Amino acid sequence: MPSNANSNSFDTLAGHVDQDRLWQRHLDMARIGATPRGGVHRLPFSKEDLESRELFLSWANTRGFISTMDDFGNIFVRREGTENDLAPVVSGSHSDTQPNGGQFDGIYGVLAAFEALEAIDDAGIVTKRPIEAVIWTAEEADAQFGVGCLGSQVYANPDKLPKLMDLRNNQNITVRQSLAGLLKDHPRVGHRGFRSPIAYYVEAHIEQGPELEARGKTIGIVTAIQGHRSFKVHVVGEAGHAGATPERLRKDALVAAMEIFSELRKAFHDPRDIVRFTVGEMDVVPSAMAVVPGSVTFTIDFRHPDPDALRSLGDQIAIVARQKAGRCEVTVSELRHTSPVAFTGAVPDAILKAVESLDYSHMFLPSGAGHDARYIAELAPAGMIFIPCWRGISHNESESAELRDMVAGANVLANTLVQLANL
Ligand code: GLV
Ligand code: MN
Ligand code: MN
Repeated sequence: MPSNANSNSFDTLAGHVDQDRLWQRHLDMARIGATPRGGVHRLPFSKEDLESRELFLSWANTRGFISTMDDFGNIFVRREGTENDLAPVVSGSHSDTQPNGGQFDGIYGVLAAFEALEAIDDAGIVTKRPIEAVIWTAEEADAQFGVGCLGSQVYANPDKLPKLMDLRNNQNITVRQSLAGLLKDHPRVGHRGFRSPIAYYVEAHIEQGPELEARGKTIGIVTAIQGHRSFKVHVVGEAGHAGATPERLRKDALVAAMEIFSELRKAFHDPRDIVRFTVGEMDVVPSAMAVVPGSVTFTIDFRHPDPDALRSLGDQIAIVARQKAGRCEVTVSELRHTSPVAFTGAVPDAILKAVESLDYSHMFLPSGAGHDARYIAELAPAGMIFIPCWRGISHNESESAELRDMVAGANVLANTLVQLANL
């Protein structure tokens, strides 16, 4: 019997998250872009990205849920409430991956949201607000375009659209062209405007770090996402013959880049192990054994929970680069500067209530990784649910999570969504 009182809803919901259905959907998604080593290579805007969206929309169609899409390709699947003029409660994540990424990052949050919608539907629960499952476009775009979370950024802040559309990848292809390529063959669904109101946003995700597993906890209630700055460092020297150019005349761009890198490693060393400093990409030109490197470009991904440390340490990068460039020229450009965000209020409160009523072990923790929730929090009260992942490994083909934890996360999510949809 339909029920709209929260306490009854929770009893009614019990047992409706279907672990076989959730696992089958996980396997169906993991096949799209599967790598020989058990990972997933499903780059933003690729044909695999499109295929994951087609699959998601086909599930929604079969179920009779209504789908909409905005002009950046963010897709929303909706289960109606009783007061459908009210802003929906939205939950989801991304279906794209890093190059040779894992089976769980992003897609778990999409699958958990869809499973929650179905479980709520199967239980015949009536909510006041509609509930929607979302796929945000190009969360993992940083590998190609230097900036991630493009879809959620644009949805919350359409003023950023022109600048983000003009970003270029290494093949000189813009986001505008890549998006047009994705949307050309995309299934047609109803139109959705940017900034269409969202009442509450909840994102489920694997933790991508070691804390839950190490402490034996099933659910993480996320308190914050740390700040994030990223940079491109371009060092220009002079290409020369590896046999004939004496040391005293060399302008070796790789030597200068290594000097800069090692000085930055010292400057960013943190005995408390809070600073996150990563050089993940380096391009040496011409990259030939018998040629002194003529230019080197490398990226810096720097994260910190404290906005002051984020500012002061990040500002050191250009200074150190100039000091250590030797005979080479160096330019440092900042690709993004995202301040930390805290999750407080209705969403984490509802998650805690759900966890307690379902009796899962839990802890509060901040997120080391960035998420779409970071940007949707600018539009609506937001929060996140973490589940453990094996050894905390992520952005790696061996990423793995236990089905029982995936089910627990979906149960917590469904319960949380029902609470929020009745506020
Ligand atoms: C997200 O993938 C991140 O890099 O934090
Ligand atoms: Mn990721
Ligand atoms: Mn992710």
